[in-house]
Amino acid sequence: MIISIASDHAGFEQKQSLVDYLVRGGFDVIDCGPDTNERVDYPDFAACVARGVAAGDADFGVLVCGTGIGMAVAANKVCGIRAVNAVNTQFAQLAREHNDANVLTLSGRFVTLDENKAILDAFLSTDFGGGRHAGRVQKIMALERS
Ligand code: RB5
Repeated sequence: MIISIASDHAGFEQKQSLVDYLVRGGFDVIDCGPDTNERVDYPDFAACVARGVAAGDADFGVLVCGTGIGMAVAANKVCGIRAVNAVNTQFAQLAREHNDANVLTLSGRFVTLDENKAILDAFLSTDFGGGRHAGRVQKIMALERS
């Protein structure tokens, strides 16, 4: 499974650790940057991950900023993306099961690395539930064409 990941300066340290965590977990990782903790604009990095996932270059995306909120707002502007900001494992699990989320956004300032690792595990190990949720996700995606 291929995971595309990026951050801004506020999420940089956790992003670096999560890249190692994913590689050690056997995932193929595309690191969209940044390469240092210098101040950057999060939409630039959200765009890289979101476009990669939308194009099928990666199965899932992970974005880390201060709150995870700006990354989610930006990533959701890319057609085909369902980005969810999860602050606990239940949100991550339900984002996959109910919403078929394909990008997970994380808070590097308000959630610890260990918590974010657990959130990431929950996200990557949960399948979309389909059934009654499938039509709702189709309606979400239809909004892109309306
Ligand atoms: C950067 O200061 C901060 O605004 C950013 O990391 C993020 O939290 C935005 O949503």
